[in-house]
Amino acid sequence: MDAATPVVELKQITKRFPGIVANDSISLKLHKGEIHALLGENGAGKSTLMNIVFGLYQPDEGSIEVNGTPVTIDSPNKAIELGIGMVHQHFKLVQPFTVTENIVLGMEPKKMGVHLDYKTSVAKIKKLSDQYGLKVNPNAKIQDISVGMQQRVEILKTLYRGADILIFDEPTAVLTPQEISELMGIMKRLVEEGKSIILITHKLKEIMQISDTVTIIRRGKVIDTLKTEETNPNELAEKMVGRSVSFKVDKKPATPKETVLEVKGLTSKNKDGIAVLNSLNLKVRAGEILGIAGVDGNGQSELIEALTGLSHVENGIIELNGKDITNKSPRHITESGVSHIPEDRHKHGLVLDFSMSENMVLETYYQAPYNRGGFLNKSAIDKQATRLIEQFDVRTPSIETKARSLSGGNQQKAIIAREIDKNPDLLIAAQPTRGLDVGAIEFVQKQLVAQRDQGKAVLLISFELDEIINVSDRIAVIYEGQIVGEVLPEETNDQELGLMMAGSKIAGGTA
Ligand SMILES: Nc1ncnc2c1ncn2[C@@H]1O[C@H](COP(=O)(O)OP(=O)(O)OP(=O)(O)O)[C@@H](O)[C@H]1O
Ligand SMILES: [Mg+2]
Repeated sequence: MDAATPVVELKQITKRFPGIVANDSISLKLHKGEIHALLGENGAGKSTLMNIVFGLYQPDEGSIEVNGTPVTIDSPNKAIELGIGMVHQHFKLVQPFTVTENIVLGMEPKKMGVHLDYKTSVAKIKKLSDQYGLKVNPNAKIQDISVGMQQRVEILKTLYRGADILIFDEPTAVLTPQEISELMGIMKRLVEEGKSIILITHKLKEIMQISDTVTIIRRGKVIDTLKTEETNPNELAEKMVGRSVSFKVDKKPATPKETVLEVKGLTSKNKDGIAVLNSLNLKVRAGEILGIAGVDGNGQSELIEALTGLSHVENGIIELNGKDITNKSPRHITESGVSHIPEDRHKHGLVLDFSMSENMVLETYYQAPYNRGGFLNKSAIDKQATRLIEQFDVRTPSIETKARSLSGGNQQKAIIAREIDKNPDLLIAAQPTRGLDVGAIEFVQKQLVAQRDQGKAVLLISFELDEIINVSDRIAVIYEGQIVGEVLPEETNDQELGLMMAGSKIAGGTA
């Protein structure tokens, strides 16, 4: 093999699922020491292609070469044997086990011809973590470490198994800005040490910052492969969605009316008795978008749970249109006029084994016209689902398809369609664009503004500062379970918000 031989070459890979060609004759070359970004719309076929390289799916047509040799990758074990590792978006770690235990898990002594020795393992992990700048505490339990740390454990796990080729499927979607910049450093280090990386991400900034090459796919086909230094975010966005994309939300100044949501002195403790909401106050009026900025873990999830009836609070009042909804049931709150785009779409957004049709009426199936004298009215449900799927451009082979087999971004679009269509007074949008492609982000943000313009109150919770600044009419900063300040988007910037999110009180007042 000479230096020009790709470490992985995909030749005309085709993969079909019922009703869809997920990969349509895709060819791609990954060279040694390269970071090759894979960019494409939600449902374009990126994860499918990488699952083929990692041996989780078999291609219907096409071939794969590793270091110039044709191979059949019929299982993840085979992929690992060939030096291919994958860091999945949803980690597969065992919570009560330590970092070290997780890393060596599955490397049975017999298979490796050596006995598992904890001390030797710790030493080997330490060596790897020093070499690649992957700082972890080998003795910590997974349940006690942050998401960013857990991801490092996943990376170490692949390196421990000897991976030279690493696949990252949307690794930054779940990370904080700080963790993202650390991961970027780690990836640079990995390629400097001779590894090769395929990176799936929707964030054009990350692609521009770290990749060497970028391949764009659309509806299962390769549109182009470009050198990163010879392209720019606008060109990439246009190639991936087939039209130009605006990164700025077009909106008129808000004309807020009466108060829709008022939260007073909201207090709640977690199971260890630590206050997670600490006398929190906020107000959202009809016709405005209040954005909540904050570092993950400062009470955002608890606030949403309290507002939607998913958890009880000890103290404080939540009023919707002047009526007390504190500690009411989720159904009561929904029926009072609250829609919720949840941050965890698998836990609270969809029933993955239900059809798309059923998922579109999850909260309304018991009402007319979906329920007729105790029986489900399938034709009414199907009609509703068809309408929503068309209107919100949800890419699914059919309304009978199970939610599980939709791409991540299309699952998210389906939830947004359902929640907006309920015509709520208050729309709670938690991380609404997480995992979405740039075209879909533009679409969703426009929908939020349109809801506002129709006189709804919108509460936006997002870790994306760009999104908060772009979409909100007012910004409230949450820190340690309190709103510590409020700013106007046109009067603030990343730096000021960043400082407030870290706990320094600059602007006064509460939301
Ligand atoms: N196991 C499966 N069964 C049926 N269809 C599937 C399956 N996995 C994926 N698909 C379909 O294949 C297409 C490509 O999906 P894939 O998950 O590869 O998209 P993606 O590019 O990773 O999108 P996203 O950015 O939203 O993650 C989608 O239409 C999806 O519904
Ligand atoms: Mg995917």
